[in-house]
Amino acid sequence: MIVIPGPASVDLGLRVAGHLNSRVVSVEFKRFPDGESYIRFTDSIENEDTVIVQTTSPPQNENLVQLLLMADNAMDLGAKSITAVIPYLAYARQDRRFRPGEVLSVKTIVNMLKACGVNGIMTINAHNPSLLKALDLPIRELSAIPLLADHFRLQGITYPLSISLGKKGIDTSSEADEILRGGRDYIPTHRDVITGDVTLEEKQLPVKGRDVIIFDDVISSGGTMIKAIRTIKDQGAKRIFIGAVHLLLIGDAGERMLGSGVDGMVGTDCVPSPFGIVSIAPLIARALRQGPPS
Ligand code: R5P
Repeated sequence: MIVIPGPASVDLGLRVAGHLNSRVVSVEFKRFPDGESYIRFTDSIENEDTVIVQTTSPPQNENLVQLLLMADNAMDLGAKSITAVIPYLAYARQDRRFRPGEVLSVKTIVNMLKACGVNGIMTINAHNPSLLKALDLPIRELSAIPLLADHFRLQGITYPLSISLGKKGIDTSSEADEILRGGRDYIPTHRDVITGDVTLEEKQLPVKGRDVIIFDDVISSGGTMIKAIRTIKDQGAKRIFIGAVHLLLIGDAGERMLGSGVDGMVGTDCVPSPFGIVSIAPLIARALRQGPPS
């Protein structure tokens, strides 16, 4: 198996290759003055089981095109198989036709990858895991929540309450609680299908005087999380920490999160960020060793 670390995930790709003890094929990459991407593999990939590691966090369109260029190039140059490791799968939040006539974006993305020769996808904490089964490629979804929970455990945060957002998030807090053992709960949310704004339902939570960790799959604008922090603070939590798999932190979201009175925020290297200190490389390497996504 060989590993190609894509331009958006060079460090992570090298870490995955290190765990697998695999040959790395580097990408010579440049961006033309008009913004178009140039890709060249610096070594042969012919007849190799090829793993391309490329996240599609913002700038998602550029990162996605680079991924398509790499996959198609690998197919043309005779790769035996192509697995795309896409830690953050772009467009996965538009996973339903919320209003008539809307595009099912994630389906389009997967169809493009398939057309470019991708045989299977590995991703981390997709927004709607149940939808992945309906797409036209084998997709294996892994969860980084236990890694985040373990990080907090190792920091000495004992028996915190694990909280997640949205009803489907209850699985997230349960996963964390298996490691942290301080109990779990969730805050119900509602998303406005036109504006995309998320509101939190009022709910009394058992947070008074306790350390609380809020777990979520993604923080984008930070709006949802800041509302959650306020609610939990107002209800008397002692300390509040954030563990989120994909820290997109658009614009000044990072500063706004820290300014909201949170006691710590940690993410993974699914998305390069100064807060993305928990590596998912061992998780991906273990899954790749088990075989291609099926
Ligand atoms: C919602 O279902 C997700 O789990 C996130 O809470 C949400 O997408 C985050 O978006 P933002 O940071 O823009 O509020």
